[in-house]
Parts: sequence; C-alpha cells; structure tokens
Amino acid sequence: MNYRTMSRELAYQPGEQFRDELLDLKAFMRRAFQVLVYNAIDGDYAEFGCCGATTFTLAWGAADLVGHKAHLWAFDSFEGLPSSTDPRDAHTGWTEGVMAMTEEAFIGRCQANGVPEQAYTTVPGFYSESLSSGSRDPRPGRICFAYVDCDLYTSTLQALEFLGDRLCHGAVVAFDDYYCFSESHPSGERLAVTEFFANHERWRLVPYIQWGWYGMSFIIEARQSAPAPAFSW
Ligand SMILES: C[S@@+](CC[C@H](N)C(=O)[O-])C[C@H]1O[C@@H](n2cnc3c(N)ncnc32)[C@H](O)[C@@H]1O
Repeated sequence: MNYRTMSRELAYQPGEQFRDELLDLKAFMRRAFQVLVYNAIDGDYAEFGCCGATTFTLAWGAADLVGHKAHLWAFDSFEGLPSSTDPRDAHTGWTEGVMAMTEEAFIGRCQANGVPEQAYTTVPGFYSESLSSGSRDPRPGRICFAYVDCDLYTSTLQALEFLGDRLCHGAVVAFDDYYCFSESHPSGERLAVTEFFANHERWRLVPYIQWGWYGMSFIIEARQSAPAPAFSW
C-alpha cells in the first residue's frame, strides 16, 4: 500500500483509538459469554478490579445478550490500588490509591448503565482480607468467567488463589493487564499467571482471545490424564 495516497478516512481521527479499544473489549466480552453458552458452561462471573464499572457493564450486557445466567461479583477495595514495595508490582502508573472509586459511586454507575441491582454483588475490601478463607460473607461457588483487572502481581496472585478450585473446566479467565509490566524486569499480571499455572495440579491454560493492546484470555482445561495438546501450556 502507498501510505502517501491513503485516503483521509483511513487515518485515525483524534480520540478514535479509545472507541477502537472499547469495541474490541465489548466484542471480547460477547465472545467469551458466547463460548460459555455454546459449551454449556454455567457458573458466575467474578471481576477483580472494577472501578469505573466499564468492564462490569460490558460483561453484564454480553451475558444478557447471549442468555448466560451468570451472577456477577465485583471485588474491589473501592479505595484504589494497595501500597506495595514488591518489585513484581512495579509499573510507572501503579501507585497507592490510584483508580479509587467508592462502592456507592460504583453502584451508581451500574445503575446509570442499566445493570439490574439483583444481577450483581459487590465485595468491598483489599483482597488480603476479602478473599481470605476466613471471610463469612457470601462468596461465589463455581466461577465460569473471571475477569482480572487489578494490575499488580500481588493482587493478581491473590485473585488466582481465590479462584483455584472455584474455576471449572471450560471457564474463561481474562487478564486486562497481561501486556503491562515493568520496563526492566518480569512483573504484573503475566508473571502471576505464568507462575500460578506452571504446575497447577488441576488446570492448564488454553490461549483464547487477545483484545486491545493490553488484554489476553485463556480457557481453563482440566489436566486429568489426557495429554496436553501442543498449543496449551
Ligand atoms: C484498572 S482498575 C479496574 C478498571 C475496571 N475493570 C474497568 O475498566 O471498568 C483496577 C482496580 O483494581 C483494584 N485493586 C487492585 N488491587 C487490589 C487489591 N489488592 N484489593 C482490592 N482491590 C484492588 C483497584 O481498587 C482498582 O479499582
């Protein structure tokens, strides 16, 4: 192609990239719920990192569209990122307290976006507390779609440890910040995913859909005794 003669319509207009990313994410959500419906995988949707309610609203809209009956769970401190000095959490944009949105504001945003109150449950608190086995509050049982958007290595590992036996064969696990990491060393969500599933006794990951410039998803496959296909890890 001769880029000098490229028509003006093909060139990006200011702000257009955000629409692109949003549509890609929206399509991912629909495809993820679609594969669950097609393969008859039931269970709940759990989102780790919910401020803004954008992904949460897209998830609800996609489930509603394709007829998946997942109840939605929103896990967030509602105070922004926790403090961390762990080098595996390093990223120039990730500092204590950023991305804070109160639980009330989150619920208000869901309401404004048309997400029915009975469709979801919020679980406030930092994961070190809210995902601990000691908590007596209601928690999801079987999770068929986990959307991990909590940025940090440590937060992602806490979410994965919580997910563990709650996941099921055929579930979708998505990592919003899979391609976001330190400029100097392995860190963030990708490192947590790699370590957690490297020798997991029950599950292995089958690469699924990549979206935007940042996100990657996998399908959970039971290890059982079947040999691993060449394309999973
Ligand atoms: C990128 S934002 C989520 C954005 C959201 N998914 C959206 O776009 O609609 C990351 C969120 O993760 C939450 N978070 C990160 N680590 C956490 C932890 N250890 N405990 C609780 N919340 C945490 C922060 O409070 C923040 O709201």
